[in-house]
Amino acid sequence: MTKLLELYRCEICNNLVEIDHEGMGTLVCCGQDMKLLVEHEATSENAHFAHVETVENNDGSKIITVKINHGMTDEHHIEFIEAISKDKKYTKKKFLKAGETPEMVIKCNCSEGFYIRLYCNKDGGWLTKTEI
Ligand SMILES: [Fe+2]
Repeated sequence: MTKLLELYRCEICNNLVEIDHEGMGTLVCCGQDMKLLVEHEATSENAHFAHVETVENNDGSKIITVKINHGMTDEHHIEFIEAISKDKKYTKKKFLKAGETPEMVIKCNCSEGFYIRLYCNKDGGWLTKTEI
């Protein structure tokens, strides 16, 4: 059974699928089961860690800038950054290409922290837990 927001990857063609609705079936691609992607926990010690800067507006809303200190070459780069609220009701995802700056801006009225998930084309999925 799949779970909301899980990522599944095909080990043959590299298709990557995110679950928007849970189901009982098994995801299959290129004739075999897709593999659940397990994110590594990012720490401030590694290049997949998400640095977060928060600015609070007068109306209580926040502008949050997520920055990743990671190279963006053709061979090795961040393919997407995704913010996921702790209750999993909200997500925001930004897709990136080599040469672009790996950062994303979020505007929200959120009071709790959220998860930052990113996907590196060489090193796979990484997760950073944030407090705001
Ligand atoms: Fe990487």
